[in-house]
Parts: sequence; structure tokens; C-alpha cells
Amino acid sequence: MRENSERLFARSRSVMPGGVSSPIRAFAPFPSFIRRGDGPLLFDVDGNRLVDFCLGYGPLILGHGHPAVFDAVMRQANEGLLFGAPSPNELEFAEKLVGRLPGADMVRFANSGGEATMHALRLARGFTGRDKVVKAVGGFHGAHDALLVKPGSAAMEACLPGSAGVPEGAVGSTLLMEFNDVEAAAGVLEGGDVAAVIVEPVMGNCGVVPPAPGYLRELRRMTEENGTLLIFDEVITGLRVAAGGAQELYGVEADLCTLGKAIGGGLPAGAVAGRRDIMELVSPQGPVYMAGTFSGNPLTAAAGLAVLNHLDAAVYRSLDSKGGTVVQGLRDIIADRRLKACVNSVGSMFQIFLGADEVSNGSDAAACDAAAFRGLFLHMLGEGHYLPPSQFESLFLCTEHQKQHLDGLMEAFDSGLREVERSV
Ligand SMILES: Cc1ncc(COP(=O)(O)O)c(C=O)c1O
Repeated sequence: MRENSERLFARSRSVMPGGVSSPIRAFAPFPSFIRRGDGPLLFDVDGNRLVDFCLGYGPLILGHGHPAVFDAVMRQANEGLLFGAPSPNELEFAEKLVGRLPGADMVRFANSGGEATMHALRLARGFTGRDKVVKAVGGFHGAHDALLVKPGSAAMEACLPGSAGVPEGAVGSTLLMEFNDVEAAAGVLEGGDVAAVIVEPVMGNCGVVPPAPGYLRELRRMTEENGTLLIFDEVITGLRVAAGGAQELYGVEADLCTLGKAIGGGLPAGAVAGRRDIMELVSPQGPVYMAGTFSGNPLTAAAGLAVLNHLDAAVYRSLDSKGGTVVQGLRDIIADRRLKACVNSVGSMFQIFLGADEVSNGSDAAACDAAAFRGLFLHMLGEGHYLPPSQFESLFLCTEHQKQHLDGLMEAFDSGLREVERSV
């Protein structure tokens, strides 16, 4: 029963394009309007209780309304929402983040992941004096022009704008490579004229695609050899896959990393962090301009600090163990039903791919059965499980998911996969 959502969506469509503020939220026939979140749960406007495996597309690693985050935000709200001046908890947030991230000596805060990657590219270009940047097919780094390009079929091909309104000139210096393909990376780097390779160390915007063993290390070696900066876009993986993000998990240090999502504890957040000699080019210390009215604001800093303080080794062990349980359960269902499907995961982020035996890059993901996934998604919603509504997203777990939530998820997947069995 979702009549109230349907009614609100009809109203929304007359005042917001597509009825939403970000396109992924507008699934057919109409999205659920959410009234409240509590721990691992969402409650919609029709009174449905949904176990949340979307978690705001990743940020809510402690679930909804965690007392530590809630108390910190309320305390700060009492003191003030915005100062337009440095604050002590912004400083503590910076010190704690830098302390956790391998290879990072300094950080500049922003307000979203997209803002962070936009700034990181400018910084890499300012540092190297080069224009070209390389991204992976299927990688997503936010909605700004330079990285909003259609996946092309061949590496080194000139990219086409992926949205109306993006001038060709804005993506003329953006090159594509296939993820997990060392030769493709070597090809785009060989001219020695690339400012930066920006890559999600675990791809999370074409489903979940982990790096092949040794791939990130090889990228590190090749970029260094060519005087190219390596930027890990850790907007999803930062704080998610380990305390120090993917750099810690895979033992590979990038020159810069970009952060967002989980570092804000549910409030808007972004950051660029990296090597001192590069970061010192950021204004006002250096000539690369970055600025923002809300950057490093005390409220986000308070929420982010509360999350950072909560995430210790035991929390990651528990999240990883829950992830392992879910992934094994899903693989068992796939094997029992002899489905053409596979599951990719890293710790507490995972995705099932329908219609594929293996997905190791963006093009593999694009070939999956996205229509069958939409059917599965609607089934899961009907069974009280809120997933991201697309094959090309990641499901997430939080500290508040308990055994019964994971058991329920498996049961719903089991019945949902029975329904889509014929199409995959
Ligand atoms: C890896 C990655 N980078 C950047 C972004 C953009 O972040 P935001 O939506 O906060 O601008 C996203 C958003 O999904 C992301 O997944």
C-alpha cells in the first residue's frame, strides 16, 4: 500500500523536475516518500516499515539517528550552525581524518563528493601543469562537467558529453580507460601528458566492482612513472571499507583522495586530502582556488567527528562479517537456482548482477539485465526492503543491521529471484 506516496509524487512532479531532487530517486511507477528513519529502518508516509540497505546511498554507516551523531549535532546546533570562521571541531575533524588516511598530510573540506572531485582535478592540473585527466568507464565522480562523460568503447577515444549542456570543450581533455585493465591504463598514460588518473578504488556506481589483485598497485606504479597524479575517489569507500579507506585496505597510497558521504555522518560533506607538497598549492596557501560558504561548517564537523570516533576495528570486523554472511547467502541462492547472476562485494558494500557470470569493469556491468533488476527491486520493496533502485548502485550495511534483518533480506531475495528466474 503506497497510496500516499503516489499522491505526493503527483504533486512533486509539478514543482520539481521528475518529482525529485536527484534523478536516481525517481523509480517507476513512483518512489516511496519517507517520513522517518530509525537505526536500520525507514518508515514511509503510508506507514510501511522498510529495512534500509540504501542508507542514503552510503553515508549512514551507523544507521539513522545514531545517538552519538544525534547528540553531537544537537550540542553543536545549540552553539551555532555556521560561523564563516575556523572552529575547533573543524580542526579536530581535520586532524582525525588526516591521522586515519594513509598518504594524507592535509585536507580541504568541501560540501559534497562532487565538489571534492571537481577541486581535486583542478589541484592535479595546477600541480602538474597538464590538462588531461583519465577516468574509468562506468566511474562516477559527481555531476560536474569534466567527468560527466559517456563511457566510450575504446580507451583514448575522445569522450562525448554525457549530458545536454556539457560543452565538448569541458570533456575534451577527459580520457577513458577500462577499470581493471593494466594495458588500457598504460595506453592512456604513455604520452606523459596526463595530469591525473581519478578512479574509485572499488567501483560503486556500476554496481560494485572490486579491483583485481595487484591492479591498484600497478596503477600506482604507472602513474608515478609518468609524473601523473593518482586520485582515489573514496567518496564511497572512505570510512566504509576500512578506517583508512581503500588506501589502507589495499595498501596503496594515492597522491590525493576525495571523500564525502560517510565522513559527514548524514550531513552534506566532502573533502580533498593528500600529500603536503600538493595540498600546499590550495588557496590561500597556493594558487589553486577552492572555496565554499559551508565548507568545514561546524555542524558537519560535529557529525563527522562523532562517526570517526565510533568507527574502531571491532566495528569494521562486525560490518565485514555481516557482509560476508549476506554475500554467501546470495551466492547460495544463485547456485541453488542455477541462475545466471553473480555477486560482487567488499566488506559492507555489495551488489548482485543479473544476467552475468562475472563483472570486472564498467562495460561488464552495463551488459547486465537492468530491467530484471528493476523487477527484483520492486519485489524487495514490496517485501519491506529498501534497496537502491538500480543495478548500477551498491547496497550497504550499517552497524544497526541485526541477524533478523539479514535473514529477512535473504528470504526476500530468495522469493524475488524465483520471480525473475525466467528472465535471467
Ligand atoms: C564515488 C563517488 N564520487 C563522487 C560522488 C558525488 O558525490 P555527491 O553526490 O556528494 O556530490 C559520488 C556520488 O554518488 C560517488 O559515488
